[in-house]
Amino acid sequence: MLEKNSLQLLEEALAVLEQGFSELPEFEAGVRPKHLRAVLQEAALRLQDNFPYPHPLYAGQMLKPPHPVARLAYMLALYINPNNHALDGGRASSAMEKEAVAAIASMFGYTSHLGHLSASGTIANLEALWVARHACPQGLVLASEQAHNTHARMCEVLQLPFQSVATDALGRMDMNALEHTLKHKPTAAVITTLGTTGLGAVDPLHEILRLRERYGFRVHVDAAYGGYFKLAANLDSETRAAFDAISQADSIVVDPHKHGLQPYGCGCVLLRDPAESLFYKHDSPYTYFTSAELHLGEISLECSRPGAAAVALWATQKLLPMVPGGEFANSLEASRRAALAFHRHVANSQTYLAGPRPELDIVVWTLAASGRAAAGHRAQAVFDAAAHRQLHLALLRLPDNLATAWWPVLRNDADRVTALRSCLMKPEHETWLPRILALLDTAARESLSA
Ligand SMILES: Cc1ncc(COP(=O)(O)O)c(C=O)c1O
Repeated sequence: MLEKNSLQLLEEALAVLEQGFSELPEFEAGVRPKHLRAVLQEAALRLQDNFPYPHPLYAGQMLKPPHPVARLAYMLALYINPNNHALDGGRASSAMEKEAVAAIASMFGYTSHLGHLSASGTIANLEALWVARHACPQGLVLASEQAHNTHARMCEVLQLPFQSVATDALGRMDMNALEHTLKHKPTAAVITTLGTTGLGAVDPLHEILRLRERYGFRVHVDAAYGGYFKLAANLDSETRAAFDAISQADSIVVDPHKHGLQPYGCGCVLLRDPAESLFYKHDSPYTYFTSAELHLGEISLECSRPGAAAVALWATQKLLPMVPGGEFANSLEASRRAALAFHRHVANSQTYLAGPRPELDIVVWTLAASGRAAAGHRAQAVFDAAAHRQLHLALLRLPDNLATAWWPVLRNDADRVTALRSCLMKPEHETWLPRILALLDTAARESLSA
C-alpha cells in the first residue's frame, strides 16, 4: 500500500543539495542507528493504529494522500528546515512559496494578489476575516448553515458579530434568506463556501456578487476543500458559474493539503488587493535584516512557517501544473465522475435513499426505512459492516430542513437523520468504484438481514 520506490530519489537529491554547502568544514550530525531503528520501528508499530488513508478503500472523510513528489520535496527541505517567516530563515523556500502562491492566484484568475501559505484552512480563513475586519469594520459576518464550523469560532476570536444564513434544498446559501438579512442588518462580509465540508455544495458566488453591487459588503470565498475544482471541465453549469466568478472575490482560501496533494500544514490565503498589505504593518526589531525584498512574515499573521511546505507545493506544481486539461485537472475530473457514478448507484437502488447529485466529489445517502431514526440506525450499521470489510466510509448528521427536502418518505421521528458520506478524493476511486459499490451492497445486505 505504501509507495517506497521513489525513496532512492531522495538520496540523489540530498547529494545535490549538499554540494551547495561544500565550502563548509566537514561536519556530520551524530546519529545512533541502533537506537534510531528501535524507535522508528516502535513508531511504525504505533502508526498501524490508523485507517488506511492512502488506500482507495478508504472513501470516508476528506483525506487525500500527498503526492510522492510532495513527500520527497518536503523531506529534502527538512534537511535544511527553512522557516519562511523571514528571508533570513528561508531564502530559497520563500522564493518558491511566492511562485507557488502566484500560480494558485493565477489559477483563480487574480491579476494581482497578496498571499501566502498557512498552517491550515482554519488559520487562512482567520487571516482573511482579520483583514475583512480592518477593511470593513462595521457589520455582521455571514456564512451559510453548511459553512465550516470554524468561521463562527474565528469570528468569536476576532470579536466579530456572526450570523448563519439558511441554505436551500441543495445545501447552498439561500439567496432569499441572504437578501433578507442584507436588507435588515448592516453586513461587513459574506463568507461564500465553494465546496462545503459535509455535502460539497457550492454557494452561488455569481449571485452573491450581484447582491454585493446592491448592498456593498466584502466577499470572502472559503474554497479550502473545493478550490481546485476551478480546473475541472465536468462541473454542472450552476457550479461552473460560481467558480468562474471567483476572481471577483475580495479574498480566497484554498487548502493545498486537501485537494492539492500536500501533507498537512498547508493552507493558502489570497487577497485580491495588494494594497491591503498596510493592515499587516508591524515592527519586528529582531527580523527582516538580510534583504530589502519582501519577507513573508511582513504579510502574514503567523510567524514561523515551514519552508518545507512551500518546497513540497512548488515541486508538486512543477510536476503537475495547474492547467485545465492537465494531469492534475484530470484527476479532479475523475473524482467527480466517481462521485456521479456512486450517486447513480445509490439513486437506482431500493436499499438506499440518495442525497442530491454531487456538485464536486462528495456523495451523501442513507438507508431506506420507515422513519428517520430507523434510517439512521441502518446507516450506522452499514458504516460498521463496511469498515469490517475494509471499506471505510463516513457519517453525517443531516439537519431537519435538508432531511425534509430530500427524504420526505421518512417519518419525522427525529430532529436529524444520520446519513452515510463518502469523499471520493483519490483519482483511483474511479477505477475502484465497482469494488467499493460491491462492498457497500454486501455490507448493506449483511446489516439489514442481521
Ligand atoms: C470548506 C472548509 N473550510 C475550512 C476547513 C478547515 O480547514 P482545516 O481543516 O485545514 O483547518 C475545512 C476542513 O475540512 C473545509 O472543508
